[in-house]
Amino acid sequence: MSPSLAELSADPHPHLAAMRAAGPAAWVEALDGWMVVGHAAALAVMRDADTFTVDDPRFTTSRVIGPSMLSTDGPEHARLRQPFVAPFSPRASRAYFSEFVRGESARLVSDLRPRGEAELRTELAGPLAASSMRLALGLERIPVAELLGWYRAIVQAVADVTAGQPLPELGLTAYQALGSAVSETLASASGETFLGGVLSGAQALDQAEMLSNTAVLLFGGIETTEGMIATLAHHVLTEPGVLDELRENPDLLDAAIEESLRLEPAAAVVDRYATRDVEIGDAQIRKGDLVVVSLAGANRDPAVFPDPDRFDLHRADLRRQLAFAQGPHVCVGLHLARFETRCALENLLGLPGLEREAERSTEPAGLVFRKPDTVRVRWGA
Ligand code: HEM
Repeated sequence: MSPSLAELSADPHPHLAAMRAAGPAAWVEALDGWMVVGHAAALAVMRDADTFTVDDPRFTTSRVIGPSMLSTDGPEHARLRQPFVAPFSPRASRAYFSEFVRGESARLVSDLRPRGEAELRTELAGPLAASSMRLALGLERIPVAELLGWYRAIVQAVADVTAGQPLPELGLTAYQALGSAVSETLASASGETFLGGVLSGAQALDQAEMLSNTAVLLFGGIETTEGMIATLAHHVLTEPGVLDELRENPDLLDAAIEESLRLEPAAAVVDRYATRDVEIGDAQIRKGDLVVVSLAGANRDPAVFPDPDRFDLHRADLRRQLAFAQGPHVCVGLHLARFETRCALENLLGLPGLEREAERSTEPAGLVFRKPDTVRVRWGA
């Protein structure tokens, strides 16, 4: 039987495995669309933007923030995305963000240290993700709490529009406030700043395009990175022996990050719309159908990852995990997200006797964005 949204949100993995056993794609009544659960099929869909596009009026984010790289395909997508690629390259993003991210993750953990306990999603992961995006947008003068307030109002507006309600005033005001703050930054941006680097990109964008794409950075960079760090902390502290192994062998830190992403990608699905009739395995997809790529499902395909439900620091092919998607929309911020996560983990490992308070913590959950709501930990003095 096709799973409900509640089942896909709580623990999708047994349902995804059952679907996968029947074929790489299945109709899911509750989504009113197809779900792609096989690794090869997921890759093929994400790489073929002519057949599986994001450019569809049902994509509600664009109704709130206007067209952006997230909601376009083909040459228009390439034009909107291109100025962000070089500033987010491994070398450029390291050069621009590394000092801040290193310092901020160390500061957050050392501020918590004397307390001997913390909730890691809201007290480490969220603040690190939000302050890194604040730096990217050149909004250091805006308190993180205010930026998060705008962000939440815009996310709520997207949720309301998705549910068929009118665009709420609060979402609109928040988007305008973000817009004027970013415009101010842009007016004085020098080539040395991150946004200045974007602006000087070969095919600079106009003001409205710049704004919708910077809003995408907020969408792309806060919730997901917060989830990525919180989920990693959850895995490191719940999977037997992993914490000790990482302390003994820090060379395995990157493997832990990738394996955590594989098992619980922070964005569990990406949506596409079929532009023509097409088959995936036995699934007969019709033009206009919603095609939901389950990154969580693809990441546990036993054809690529043997014994896929097991957390294994020594997998040979971890870089084949698809948490950052693939193809033309592959995550622009993936190097920065990995770097933030690595810094957060390094600092956490420095807390002696670190352990998770199981009875006060929760498991990863969520239909689209998955993360543990609460990762309560304590450590010794
Ligand atoms: C520094 C943090 C991050 C930034 C600035 C960022 C930014 C972006 C942007 C701008 C896009 C749109 C690219 C396009 O459509 O061409 C994107 C796509 C994506 N990002 Fe990220 N991201 C970040 C972190 C993450 C994290 C932590 C995850 C998950 C673990 C993630 C998963 C994705 C996925 C799955 C897509 C593809 C969406 C699609 O294909 O529809 N991102 N990201």
